[in-house]
Amino acid sequence: MQTQNALGALFLVFLGMVEVRARQPCSPKYLRATAMVCVCNATYCDTVDPVSLPDVGSFVKYTTSRDGQRLERSEGKTAAKSGASGGIFYTYDPSVRHQYVKGFGGSLTDSAAINILHLSYAAQNQLLCSYFSEEGIEYNLLRWPIGCSDFSTRPYTYDDRCVNDFELKCFELAPEDTKLRIPLLHRIMALTGRPLSLVSSPWTSPAWLRVNNKVYGKSRIKGEPGDRYHKAWARYFIRFFEEYAKYNITFWAFSSQNEPITALFISREDFPCNYFSPQHQRDFIIQDLGPALAASPHADVRLMILDDGRCHLPNWADQVIGNSTAAAFVSGIGIHWYFDSVTPAGLTLDVTHHLYPDFFLLYTEACNGYLDWDVKVILGSWERGTYYSSNILTVRGPPCYDQKFVALRR
Ligand SMILES: *[C@@H]1O[C@H](CO)[C@@H](O)[C@H](O)[C@H]1NC(C)=O
Ligand SMILES: *[C@@H]1O[C@H](CO)[C@@H](O)[C@H](O)[C@H]1NC(C)=O
Ligand SMILES: *[C@@H]1O[C@H](CO)[C@@H](O)[C@H](O)[C@H]1NC(C)=O
Repeated sequence: MQTQNALGALFLVFLGMVEVRARQPCSPKYLRATAMVCVCNATYCDTVDPVSLPDVGSFVKYTTSRDGQRLERSEGKTAAKSGASGGIFYTYDPSVRHQYVKGFGGSLTDSAAINILHLSYAAQNQLLCSYFSEEGIEYNLLRWPIGCSDFSTRPYTYDDRCVNDFELKCFELAPEDTKLRIPLLHRIMALTGRPLSLVSSPWTSPAWLRVNNKVYGKSRIKGEPGDRYHKAWARYFIRFFEEYAKYNITFWAFSSQNEPITALFISREDFPCNYFSPQHQRDFIIQDLGPALAASPHADVRLMILDDGRCHLPNWADQVIGNSTAAAFVSGIGIHWYFDSVTPAGLTLDVTHHLYPDFFLLYTEACNGYLDWDVKVILGSWERGTYYSSNILTVRGPPCYDQKFVALRR
């Protein structure tokens, strides 16, 4: 749910839905010839009817098109395979099982929260419903930065008041958590019809834990795995889960570091990041984070490695979960979509899945307009929408913009 991700970032045609009619249609506004947005305000927002299974032998199709259709519903009968009579021909073979799709979601960053809270309270509710409720697109995954991210208005962590606070006596959630993001999350949880899985990651750590003694900038954790710096950094995660539990918020998964490699290449001076090599991540997990998690009441929160571009696969997985001691603490691999068009899925995701079939692969970040020279927000951009949809559905090769897509939802 980063600011660029306008509603309708997913252009999916869902099979397997019932006969229901969109209750409130899109209120269209054209910004350019092919840039249409559905306008919502305090009293009006388009809705999608709740999804349920159709009768055997029939299907329901929801279509979004460049010409202005938005999740428009139509029905049809499935038929035994025969010659296609023009148009698009989808085949569905229930005997062939591919991967389990955990779901779809966005990120509730500081900037997302600030932007949402700038709306009137009633308009906020419309927006939250559009994303999370049964009348909307029912996001069921939510990424949650631990402390500041590059979508924050200032660099901070939860332990900035003290120095060398190895016991975390000064640990305290930030106003961004307690005043902005947590209240929004409570509202979201109250309107979702099904479980919401939260996925968290830290961007940076307290200045006193870092070689450059700053919260931001290219740097890494002081010392070596097993020492007091790494023990304190592991303890910090557990403390974060504890503080959130006081707000009745539990996490489905977390990664040990957002973009551990990208931290080496970031050009912005003020970027919050921590560099980890795969060997450093492996040894931090073996010596500090894994045991701390396992010994805590939060041992069921799934630990993900990588949380960076798939170009690092399968090497990163080989280095970390190729080690059985580290692997015992790990459940999955987080992946960011950057540079996917030049890193074939077959050589990265397929190979990794083949080598480590018991570890889930989860895309944890996708964002348009991220290059320094990019326009940040392009309202109604059809092209940017297709970048998301093709990234989700076209796993091989570069995005194909004019393709139509089919996704099975379960
Ligand atoms: C809200 O949107 C609806 C539908 O587009 C419109 O009829 C109504 O006038 C809008 N209300 C305000 C206050 O702009
Ligand atoms: C957490 O849930 C419990 C039990 O439902 C409730 O009594 C308590 O008020 C909740 N706390 C917060 C901070 O929401
Ligand atoms: C895992 O890594 C640790 C630390 O680097 C090493 O001592 C150990 O031998 C490795 N274990 C396996 C099974 O490779």
